[in-house]
Amino acid sequence: MLRTPLCNLLGIDLPIICAPFGPWHQVDLAAAVCEAGGLGSVGSVLHPAAELRKQWETLRALTNRPFAINHTARPFDPEVFDEIIDFGPAVVSFHLGDPAGLVERAHGVGALWMQQVMNVEQARRAVDLGADVIIAQGAEAGGHGGGVSTMVLVPQVLDVAGAIPVVAAGGIADGRGLAAALAMGAQAVNMGTRFVASCEFAGSDDWKKMIVDAGAEDTVQTDALEPIMPPYTMATPWHGKERMLRSPFLAQWDGRTDELDARAGELGPEIIAAILAGDTRIRPVRRPIRGTDRRHPAGRRDRAPHSGRGPKCPRPSCCLLKPAGGVSSCRPLGVPKVHRPTRRMEHDN
Ligand SMILES: Cc1cc2nc3c(=O)[nH]c(=O)nc-3n(C[C@H](O)[C@H](O)[C@H](O)COP(=O)(O)O)c2cc1C
Repeated sequence: MLRTPLCNLLGIDLPIICAPFGPWHQVDLAAAVCEAGGLGSVGSVLHPAAELRKQWETLRALTNRPFAINHTARPFDPEVFDEIIDFGPAVVSFHLGDPAGLVERAHGVGALWMQQVMNVEQARRAVDLGADVIIAQGAEAGGHGGGVSTMVLVPQVLDVAGAIPVVAAGGIADGRGLAAALAMGAQAVNMGTRFVASCEFAGSDDWKKMIVDAGAEDTVQTDALEPIMPPYTMATPWHGKERMLRSPFLAQWDGRTDELDARAGELGPEIIAAILAGDTRIRPVRRPIRGTDRRHPAGRRDRAPHSGRGPKCPRPSCCLLKPAGGVSSCRPLGVPKVHRPTRRMEHDN
């Protein structure tokens, strides 16, 4: 299997990183990826430090291989960041904010700093601040991303990164994407959506089925839900938009930011609770809203599932990772077609 210098730096066998998924529990997935030779990650958003610490200890008990703990600017929780530093993972990864003052703290406990960037200016800043690895995240990515496509961004970041290894992210879902990324000069890939649709991820089967069934044009990059999403709490946030599967729920709120803002107190907690529970079905519309599309009446359970745009990988033969411990690692679900939202959002990114 291909090894790159970054594999040696990270202490992994395969140039494959499994992305962190914000608030979702992914200890089993991270352990499976680590045991299969890649770099597993865990997110650390919206959970108390003590609870996260238990997750990391469980992960350390499941694998003695290196893994990454991620944090973001949305929100940046100083207590959680302190806990990450105290735990001392092999890698601290970071997204959506300028990491001034943070990189040295990771280096102080011997951790590598892996900074995800959405444009070339952010990459320059990561170089200046001493990042050890830079993830060039293209607009195709699931989760929060920028506006520059992976194919355009990776060479731009390579040009400013010099000797710092660059990882490609966004729309990469199989060996062809990995080969293309390496051909451009990246030293690994950071894949998210593909790993959401894996057996080892603790997310709902519904969500996985929707991803496996979706086509490249079924996702949209949107800020429609901004008012109810956790706030950016760093002085210098790097704003992104969320890529999600199209849904009647998203279509309903598109262009109604003010209205959603006014009802954030009512709708936000329920939606965040659903997200934390791994339930991508949300039920925020209890009473009709002016102009609401009657085809999606109040009370109907709709969805706002995160997903990248990459080609899906429905064949086990495409699987990048070897089976670990008798469990078929990262095996895509062989699922039947499910209902796909028919209403289209007007804009597409
Ligand atoms: C559900 C989901 C949640 C994500 N949450 C985070 C996060 O908390 N921190 C982070 O650095 N990246 C996060 N990402 C982005 C990934 O790091 C990565 O850039 C992206 O998944 C790559 O694109 P792909 O989804 O097309 O593979 C998330 C991605 C997804 C799909």
